[in-house]
Amino acid sequence: MKLWLDTAKIEEIREIASWGVLEGVTTNPSLMARAGTADRKSVARTIDEIVGGPVSAEVISTDAEGMIEEAREILTWSPHVVVKIPTTEEGLKAMKEISKWENGRINATLIFSANQALLAAKAGATYVSVFIGRLDDAGQDGMEVIRETAAIFELHDIPAEIVAASIRHPRHVIEAAISGAHIATIPYAVMKKMIKHPLTDVGIVRFLEDWKKVAG
Ligand code: G3P
Repeated sequence: MKLWLDTAKIEEIREIASWGVLEGVTTNPSLMARAGTADRKSVARTIDEIVGGPVSAEVISTDAEGMIEEAREILTWSPHVVVKIPTTEEGLKAMKEISKWENGRINATLIFSANQALLAAKAGATYVSVFIGRLDDAGQDGMEVIRETAAIFELHDIPAEIVAASIRHPRHVIEAAISGAHIATIPYAVMKKMIKHPLTDVGIVRFLEDWKKVAG
């Protein structure tokens, strides 16, 4: 499972990229607002320079024509940019058209059911983003949607990659990997928690103390 970062904050991306484990980044209008910028182009370009992998930038339009027009521009911003399209009826129409283009990389977003994932994949999405945290928040089992989608895609040889999105905690990452997600897009705070374990810190202190006893 590939590890992406779910943020538009450049300093967070630089820090996690320095670990050598980062394979992509997703942004959306809310994450842009949290980063305090509306300049999607410069954010996407900077991220691509840092990560050199898929970077999702979302359309603002809600009608197919507007989404297609935005996608035409967004896909020129950097070599790895992916256009994020909401999974609606209008979104499906836009995906079908964009997927015909040579550079038509699509991340179908706001997916809350395996049926939406199936439809997005049929419309030509490269990635389908299932929002597991928001499903859990609504009292549903977000991971079940990942499991169902993974089973359907495997059974029917559907090439779209499943992105576990709206991740809330480190257990979500482990469960997404076991459930068949190809990618987890992880908030910065969760990524920082993934590397931490108190026993690792205690172990380092003990090793250094013991080393001092023999090495002086
Ligand atoms: O990648 C999707 C993600 O940004 C949504 O997360 O926390 O707003 O549900 P959240």
